[in-house]
Amino acid sequence: MENFLLGGDLPIHRLGYGTMRLVGEGAWGEPRSRDEAHKVLHRALELGVNFLDTADAYGPNIAEELIAEALYPYAKNLIIATKGGITRQGPAKAAPCGRPEYLHQCVEMSLRRLKLERIDLYQLHRIDPKVPAEESLGKLADLQKQGKIRHIGLSEVTVEQIEHARTIVPIVSVQNKYNLTERKHEAVLDYCTQNNIAFIPWYPVAAGSLAKPGGALDSFAHERNLTLSQISLAWLLQHSLVMVPIPGTSSVAHLEENVSAQNINLSEDDMDILELIADTQSS
Ligand SMILES: NC(=O)c1ccc[n+]([C@@H]2O[C@H](COP(=O)([O-])OP(=O)(O)OC[C@H]3O[C@@H](n4cnc5c(N)ncnc54)[C@H](OP(=O)(O)O)[C@@H]3O)[C@@H](O)[C@H]2O)c1
Repeated sequence: MENFLLGGDLPIHRLGYGTMRLVGEGAWGEPRSRDEAHKVLHRALELGVNFLDTADAYGPNIAEELIAEALYPYAKNLIIATKGGITRQGPAKAAPCGRPEYLHQCVEMSLRRLKLERIDLYQLHRIDPKVPAEESLGKLADLQKQGKIRHIGLSEVTVEQIEHARTIVPIVSVQNKYNLTERKHEAVLDYCTQNNIAFIPWYPVAAGSLAKPGGALDSFAHERNLTLSQISLAWLLQHSLVMVPIPGTSSVAHLEENVSAQNINLSEDDMDILELIADTQSS
């Protein structure tokens, strides 16, 4: 599978790994075992993954700590993407905060936790409706000029928001919820494809429950001796060349299954059938 050149200068394998599921339920608190979490991270790199997605809001702080504990000093080709701009109040409870002084602290603390001098990809986790994008992204642009951030990305945005953001600072990636049956961001994906911006779909395997057992997608996967997660990921990778899925898992077995999806070749007929199935199952 071909690499994607993130920001025009960072080659990444298009199947990455998302670290949110390494921490406690609802992205809150400690994992069941830090050792297990380290094993998943090590295995990801052994399998050739070189793009990790994380955020200060996972734990909070814990996912970034786990990455540094397990993998520092980092392999030369490892690209760590983190995010800031979301505060946590408990399991699955979050609120955006895009104030420049807060984002400044977020970047400084992520640098410290990840033991980095520069963050390769810093994503604004949400555009805070209470703060003009000029202020939030303006601060990230300052930090980029200071050399603390290499590239800047967005998360959960519309085409209009991306276009506006690009008047403030270059944007190299967009991370939106997207999978075979959840397609409300198709226009954003098209925009990213046209502008060679990485599209990083979160929830790419819909938490492993993309199709009900016995449903059309389930049968499609069984007939090809593949799992639903593998089909979902293979479809994403073939759907657009700017697609960079980051399936999350706390299990080495699921990680291995997911990474093997990069070797699956779906035929044009298969891609058509999947579109039809998606139409009938879309949420
Ligand atoms: N930008 C944002 O706002 C945002 C929001 C949410 C997530 N994210 C990022 O996106 C990444 C991916 O999203 P996600 O983790 O929410 O969703 P996901 O990757 O679609 O699903 C992860 C869930 O599916 C299960 N799973 C994974 N592989 C499986 C397999 N092969 N078979 C069966 N179950 C499997 C995992 O359980 P096990 O642990 O048991 O494998 C986990 O509960 C996150 O890790 C995070 O880095 C970003």
